[in-house]
Amino acid sequence: MKIAFAEPSMPKTGAAVVGVFEGRKLSPSAERLDKETGGAIGRAIEASRFQGKKDEVLALLAPPNLPLSRIVLAGLGKAEGVDARRVQDIGGTLVSHLNGAGEKEAAVLLDDLDGLEPGEAAVNLGYGALLRSYRFDKYKTKEKPEKKPSLARFTVMSQGAAAAKRLWPKLEATAEAIKFTRDLVSEPANVIYPETLAEQARTLEGYGVKVEILDERKMKRLGMNALLGVGQGSAHPPRLVVMEWKGSERGKPIAFVGKGVTFDTGGISIKPSEGMWDMKWDMAGAGVVIGLMRALAARKAKVHAVGVVGLVENMPSGAAQRPGDIVTSMSGQTIEVLNTDAEGRLVLADALWYCQDRFKPRFMIDLATLTGAIIVALGHEHAGLFANNDELADRIVAAGRSVGELCWRLPLSEAYDREIDSDAADVKNISGGRAASSITAAQFLQRFVNDVPWAHIDIAGTAWSKKDSPTVPKGATAFGVRLLDRLVAEHYEG
Ligand code: BES
Ligand code: MN
Ligand code: ZN
Repeated sequence: MKIAFAEPSMPKTGAAVVGVFEGRKLSPSAERLDKETGGAIGRAIEASRFQGKKDEVLALLAPPNLPLSRIVLAGLGKAEGVDARRVQDIGGTLVSHLNGAGEKEAAVLLDDLDGLEPGEAAVNLGYGALLRSYRFDKYKTKEKPEKKPSLARFTVMSQGAAAAKRLWPKLEATAEAIKFTRDLVSEPANVIYPETLAEQARTLEGYGVKVEILDERKMKRLGMNALLGVGQGSAHPPRLVVMEWKGSERGKPIAFVGKGVTFDTGGISIKPSEGMWDMKWDMAGAGVVIGLMRALAARKAKVHAVGVVGLVENMPSGAAQRPGDIVTSMSGQTIEVLNTDAEGRLVLADALWYCQDRFKPRFMIDLATLTGAIIVALGHEHAGLFANNDELADRIVAAGRSVGELCWRLPLSEAYDREIDSDAADVKNISGGRAASSITAAQFLQRFVNDVPWAHIDIAGTAWSKKDSPTVPKGATAFGVRLLDRLVAEHYEG
């Protein structure tokens, strides 16, 4: 689908979209079109339940005196306090509706909105539209044309067209990076495994990112036995990918670390077969870090940022790690692996330690589909947030709110930390009970951050969605790319 921006005019083909505020208050464009159609819009609203609330849509066939296919009324919500996110949602909802209706082309007549520059409003409408138009359909070889999305062109007509054309490339680059993450996360585990995911990360070189891929031999030399132990049962060897974007020369870098378990069977502590297919997206944390690095580089963010992703496949086999095995991590701490299904923290233990050891970053934020327990606690509405630094935590929560990727902070403390003391080694990888197991997982990670300001985002409940939302079609959400891109833009550029 192509997004375009144009000065206001009367569309000549396809659907013309006009806005209606809550309380059935027509926008100026809707007024004009209503006059031109002899009051057809007012009558259609009168005969319906349409109120003009956000995400409401009402379509009417275009009257015969116009060359259009249809007129679509988009609910804008309350006239006051319109923000970028609301406009994105409206764009997304429109795309979903127009595709459902079989429309090929649409032009939105966007009037000035209260509280948003015309150019900003136009690009955000396009951004929401583009984000919602994502579909992972490359393996559908027999799909009937009438099932495929039909919308080929989405034009935003407004006074802000010139400004929109200037602002668009950066937002489009971000949307493309989000799409890249969604693709990586959606791919099945026979296609995406450590070597192929590392090769995908390598494509970031095209955006000016320095990409380094550490193989098993290098990791062994560095002493990354926690990460290597997880991968030792798999036919696919592990990788560690280090990405560096130097958009600024000033100060210490900021760092992002991702869990990249390309498939999590649980290992010898094997998972039940029902639902195991979901574990193809147990590399979502890594997918988000790779997409984020691409977004930062593609929009030339003025920041020095590092991304580190630990890539392994967790399989049971004759070579696999056993429950009770003790491994020595890169930090020197020994870990008793009581459950091979608590593997993400083992991967992150070495990735986090390596990251702070090599880059001495200003902060580290890790993303991981770490625990099923975070879904029990927060469902799919918030990701779990843990941090050893209040300022960093507050900034993440605020950035999440502004882009609609919500985080809820949970506690860390010494009492929880004691739960992972091991009888046989320095630390064990499960607490034993089911109590607070997202927190004890985070406590485990904290033992490997060496007092660097750090935050951990548990995205097990938010990385994949079973239902559509205005700008996120069901499937891989790329939760975290928008949040962290905003965090960087707001606090760490320049
Ligand atoms: N990858 C899983 C967590 C997960 C569960 C992600 C559901 C997405 C959806 C993780 O590796 C895992 O298996 N965690 C265990 C930890 C337990 C053994 C302490 C869990 O949550 O059950
Ligand atoms: Mn697991
Ligand atoms: Zn896992």
